[in-house]
Amino acid sequence: MSILLTGGTGYIGSHTAVELINAGYDIVIADNLSNSEAVVIDYIETITKKRPKFYQADVCDKAQLEKIFDENKITAVLHFAGYKAVGESVSEPIKYYRNNLDSAITLLEVMQSAGCNQFIFSSSATVYGTGATVPYKEEMPTGHCANPYGWTKYMIEQILTDAAKANNNLSVVLLRYFNPVGAHESGLIGEKPVGVPNNLMPYITQTAAGMRDHLSVFGNDYDTKDGTGVRDFIHVVDLAKGHVKALEYANKNLGCEVFNLGTGTGYSVLDLVNTFMEVNGINIPYEIAPRRAGDIATSYANATKAKEKLGWQAQLGLKEMCKDAWNFQKNCK
Ligand code: NAD
Ligand code: UD1
Repeated sequence: MSILLTGGTGYIGSHTAVELINAGYDIVIADNLSNSEAVVIDYIETITKKRPKFYQADVCDKAQLEKIFDENKITAVLHFAGYKAVGESVSEPIKYYRNNLDSAITLLEVMQSAGCNQFIFSSSATVYGTGATVPYKEEMPTGHCANPYGWTKYMIEQILTDAAKANNNLSVVLLRYFNPVGAHESGLIGEKPVGVPNNLMPYITQTAAGMRDHLSVFGNDYDTKDGTGVRDFIHVVDLAKGHVKALEYANKNLGCEVFNLGTGTGYSVLDLVNTFMEVNGINIPYEIAPRRAGDIATSYANATKAKEKLGWQAQLGLKEMCKDAWNFQKNCK
């Protein structure tokens, strides 16, 4: 019996692979390597001493997926595969709708034929949209997404909700991630964006490494404690452990349930920059720049539902996030 991780060589999938193996699960990874490298499988093996079975496969390709289900007894799927670059989703929306929706629907169809009934989905806090008030709670209305990427998450949540309503044997867990940062303490796996990073932490680590000459802080006139944006940064290892709990939950409960995976605490952009400089003893030159279009002032989770129902709570703080992110960046080739 195995757990399938689509997109399992990516940033969050690879960390979840490690935690699942550590928890005793047999896993199979399917990834088309559009945004990751096959060497990640070696790193997962180095960390866990167990090599996951790997298929270089496109999750939108039904025949490739059927082969994986034919060759393995898959009891649950964690669906990480998808495109995630917000700006690119605005300029190339069709590419995003095609890949993100198609992969989820194809997976659901193949799972149904194979009698596999547990689906854990990588959703995002972005589904709370632009008008919601913090802290975000699972029962709040979703929608008013700021970009096509966000709409793909919203739509897939709806598709999975409907699928669970129609199939009494199906168990769906929608995980709304907040802002994953950091890396495995080994420094072997982490976030390695292609090209100029859009997200804050990779931009900080690349500035620290001398690859960027300074960080632009997008806006210092928000209604926050220091005027910079506030986010719920969560260590990717904590996030990965949340998936192990979600899988246990899906094994015991039918229907569709949604959980925020965040720490429940918001920190500002400057909190993160200052903590990074302090724990790593390295200067990050930064300049205040205009606000970035589409940004909101503050986003953080109400994290109590995951604590009560999954028995999961984030353990690691900003210092570990900054230390581990830098450790990974230093190891990057
Ligand atoms: P990632 O890009 O590192 O990983 C996604 C993986 O999916 C990559 O390895 C890529 O090669 C693969 N992939 C993409 N399309 C595929 C397809 N059709 N078939 C097979 N493989 C495919 O991204 P990540 O940061 O690990 O994110 C994982 C999931 O979590 C994504 O669905 C993302 O939208 C979601 N998410 C991420 C964040 C974040 O900040 N990283 C926040 C919220 C939600
Ligand atoms: C972004 C996405 C969101 C996605 C999330 C995943 C946008 C508008 N939103 O969220 O849909 O789910 O990533 O983690 O892209 N910042 C700087 N300088 C930088 C980069 C960022 O000041 O060079 C600031 C931003 O203005 C923001 C904060 O840092 O206040 C966090 O930004 P980022 O890491 O891009 O994440 P989000 O915008 O929260």
